[in-house]
Amino acid sequence: MGAYQDAWARSVEDPSAFWGEAAELIDWYQKPTRVLEGDATRYRWFPDGQMNTCYNALDRHVAAGRGEQAALIYDSPVADVVQSYTYAELLDHVSRFAGVLRELGVTQGDRVVIYMPMIPEAVVAMLACARIGAVHSVVFGGFAAHELAQRIDDATPRVVVSASCGIEVNRVIEYKPLLDAALEEASHQVEHCVIVQRPQAVASLRAGRDLDYAQAVAGASPVECVALAGPDPLYILYTSGSTGRPKGVVRDNAGHAVALRWSMPNIYDTHPGQVFWAASDVGWVVGHSYIVYAPLLTGCTTVLYEGKPVGTPDAGAYWRVIAQHGVRTLFTAPTGFRAVKREDPNGEHVARYDLSAFRYLFLAGERLDPETFQWASDLLGVPVTDHWWQTETGWPIASNLMGLEPMAPKAGSATMPVPGFDVRIVDESGQPVARGTDGLIVVRTPLPPGCMSGVWGSDDKFQQFYLSQYPGYYLTGDGGHFDEDGYLFVMGRVDDVINVAGHRLSTGAIEEIVAGHPDVAECAVIGVADELKGQIPRALVVLKAGVQREHGLIEAELVERVRHQLGAVASLRQVNVVDALPKTRSGKILRKNMRALADGVDVPVPSTIDNPVVLENLRAVLRPE
Ligand code: COA
Ligand code: AMP
Repeated sequence: MGAYQDAWARSVEDPSAFWGEAAELIDWYQKPTRVLEGDATRYRWFPDGQMNTCYNALDRHVAAGRGEQAALIYDSPVADVVQSYTYAELLDHVSRFAGVLRELGVTQGDRVVIYMPMIPEAVVAMLACARIGAVHSVVFGGFAAHELAQRIDDATPRVVVSASCGIEVNRVIEYKPLLDAALEEASHQVEHCVIVQRPQAVASLRAGRDLDYAQAVAGASPVECVALAGPDPLYILYTSGSTGRPKGVVRDNAGHAVALRWSMPNIYDTHPGQVFWAASDVGWVVGHSYIVYAPLLTGCTTVLYEGKPVGTPDAGAYWRVIAQHGVRTLFTAPTGFRAVKREDPNGEHVARYDLSAFRYLFLAGERLDPETFQWASDLLGVPVTDHWWQTETGWPIASNLMGLEPMAPKAGSATMPVPGFDVRIVDESGQPVARGTDGLIVVRTPLPPGCMSGVWGSDDKFQQFYLSQYPGYYLTGDGGHFDEDGYLFVMGRVDDVINVAGHRLSTGAIEEIVAGHPDVAECAVIGVADELKGQIPRALVVLKAGVQREHGLIEAELVERVRHQLGAVASLRQVNVVDALPKTRSGKILRKNMRALADGVDVPVPSTIDNPVVLENLRAVLRPE
């Protein structure tokens, strides 16, 4: 048996033994006597262990002599800054900011919302929360006020940490007015906001509520880590589901630290002292796990890149950062590579840089299309690994384990289940399907450490959304198949979640915003294929009887409404007024058929639309140009 098969079999046959061994990779104040407690529906990892994630990410490395090694390199082509922080310096920043939070009354279990661009203070704020046992909830900076307000109301934070602005290529996006609008909209009242003032835009602060980050830190005393129980929550990260309301995925402390620390050598073949770069955003799960926690838990140098793959300043940005900082492993989304390929199809920028330290490219966030896989493999001459994961799991469910036992990759496949994940393919009735047949992808519970420990605010929702459909299994929401060699092919979501440029969005959330327009009677939002972004949303709307306004005007208002309420990341560009939406007799909108038509597949639309002219108009609107 190879190293992979052996590890995978041990991990599912005796998870306690497997993860008990992996737990040696982190430092404990009190070692756990039990590894896994509970049954397949309610379980906890390392229930009686005592540890602190921030201690494991910073203090222990300084104590072990890594104090002078770079922990974080902030590289911002948009702010024209490159700044390196050693482990000792980062520890100092974090323990002081933890002191600021303490002075503001934040204690263990309190929530802190972090709404930040990609600046070091975002990482500092996350680790400072971890240090004192506060639960952070980072909200992606591309979300607008309404989305932020929803998350504030759900997480009910005592404090919000934010910045005066973000920078999108050459456009300054002021965050403070968005934050103020969100706080206005939210029912929950936060006590304080701590604002990083960036030189590109200085925010006005509300006396009594808002504090200037730099001033607050200057007057703060450093604080030490608190000992936390393994299952205590580290963070909440909201993600899109089928409904309009985001779900707060909760991650524990110990399981998370153990799983991420294990993943670095075994999946990413990346080790203490090496440079790891996840070109993502701290607002997404990839940013949480692989910009912040996994590299720091491992004693690596992590790169925090505030820029884009193209346009900051050119399509050589990936190669410039890799060469300048000696990056060994790059992790990003396929859409970033498609953007580079579009601008520099022959990869001419590569020749300008020394990529000799570069060993691995990992891609996730959406399916890696075979063409991009081939292009990147040919261009870079390093292994290109597609790996599949979700906010809920926090680390990869399927991957090529480059450290444990690399396998020959197959284009279009995320390779094999990672140890800990017992992945099965079932049909709608929960019966296993044959190899080669597409079905629903489920994972036998308990999920391994590092995966969600619940949905914030409700034990029942974890059951309801993920565990109740097929008892004993976690429903991933993705569809796909195993091939005859046991390689997993993840083909896409089977629900109303769409993936736009690696950003996960809910069509339900967009529909809610569109439906709120006074002229709209009903609407459907579908994800359609897009060459660059993988998918983009399209909205079809039926107007209320008697609305006489010009359709073009209403369509433009709807685009603006979504941009304003959800954020520009929604990338909704096309809205069409139609006479009717196709529905089943029971009233269910036939989104799947419309999606197929929009992707150029000529499917029948068996629906309540009896009028052939109305139906043909709908087909014409959806047909790709
Ligand atoms: N704050 C404010 N606005 C933001 C934002 C942020 N943090 N992130 C994105 N936006 C805005 C963009 O400026 C853009 O606005 P526009 O419509 O006015 O141009 C809009 O949201 C859409 O952004 P995006 O989807 O990023 O598209 P793009 O055309 O600007 O760039 C790519 C295309 C492919 C270069 C870009 O999407 C990309 O780098 N994707 C990789 C994403 C990724 O790494 N995801 C992590 C998963 S691992
Ligand atoms: P997120 O929670 O934002 O990480 O998005 C998770 C979703 O992205 C998954 O449910 C998949 O639909 C999709 N996804 C992520 N990685 C992959 C991949 N490697 N292959 C196919 N789909 C992926």
